[in-house]
Amino acid sequence: MVNIELKNVSKSYGDNEVLQNIELSIEQGSFTAIVGRSGCGKSTLLRIIAKLTQITRGELHFSGKEANDPKIRIMFQDDRLLPWKNIMKNIELGAVNPSVAQESLEKVGLIDKRYDWPDQLSGGQKQRIALARALASHPDILLFDEPLGALDALTRIEMQNLIEELWQQQKFTSLLVTHDVTEAVRLADRVIVIDRGAIQLDERIDLPRPRERNDTFTFHEKKILNQILGV
Ligand SMILES: Nc1ncnc2c1ncn2[C@@H]1O[C@H](COP(=O)(O)OP(=O)(O)O)[C@@H](O)[C@H]1O
Ligand SMILES: [Mg+2]
Repeated sequence: MVNIELKNVSKSYGDNEVLQNIELSIEQGSFTAIVGRSGCGKSTLLRIIAKLTQITRGELHFSGKEANDPKIRIMFQDDRLLPWKNIMKNIELGAVNPSVAQESLEKVGLIDKRYDWPDQLSGGQKQRIALARALASHPDILLFDEPLGALDALTRIEMQNLIEELWQQQKFTSLLVTHDVTEAVRLADRVIVIDRGAIQLDERIDLPRPRERNDTFTFHEKKILNQILGV
C-alpha cells in the first residue's frame, strides 16, 4: 500500500498546459474520485500517476510500505482483453499466481466462464473480467478511467457495488475518473473537481457505506455539479 504525492505538478502538450501546479496527496487505501468536463485533464492525471506519461514540471512521489515499486493497474472503458486467449488465460497474464487468478474470477462471480472466449461475454461481464484481472495482480493502486461509462444503468450499479466491496476487502488505493457525479459520491471518500488545469474543489464525503441517496448525499452531489457547471 502506498500514499501518492503530487507536488507542484504541471503537464503540457506543446503549448497546451493541461495541468498547472497540482498539489495533491492521496492517502493509502483511500477512494478518490476525479470529475470535470471532458478534456479537463482527468485521464492525463491518471496517466501521470501510472507513470505512463512524464510530467513537465514538479514531482511525483510514492510513500508507504511498497513505495519503491508500487504495483499500479488501470482499468479503462474498453476491457482490453486478449480475444485469442480464454478468460482464465487473460486473468492469469497479470496474476501473482494461478490460484489467485481463480480466486479473483470467483470474486467477480464469473468462475463458470473461465473457459469462454472474451467474445462470448456481454459488455458488463467483460468489465468484470477486466476487474478480476486487475485484482489478480494484487495492485497497491488501482486507477479507473471511466470503466463503467459504456454500461447500462443496472449493470453499472452492480459494478459500483462490486468495486466498493472488493476495495473494502483488498484495501488498494483507488482513483476513479468518472463523468457521473452520483457514482463519484456513491463510491469515493473524496471527490476532486478539475477545471482550467487546477483542482477547483476537494470535497470530503463522510457518509456510511453502503451509501443511500439521503439529503447529505444530494447536498454533496449538487455542490460538485455546480462547481463543474460553474454556477
Ligand atoms: N497525447 C496527447 N498529445 C497531445 N495532447 C493531448 C494528449 N493527451 C491528452 N491531450 C490533451 O490534453 C487535454 C486533456 O486531455 P485528457 O486528460 O484526456 O482529458 P479528460 O480525460 O479530462 O477528458 C485535452 O486538451 C487533450 O486534447
Ligand atoms: Mg479521459
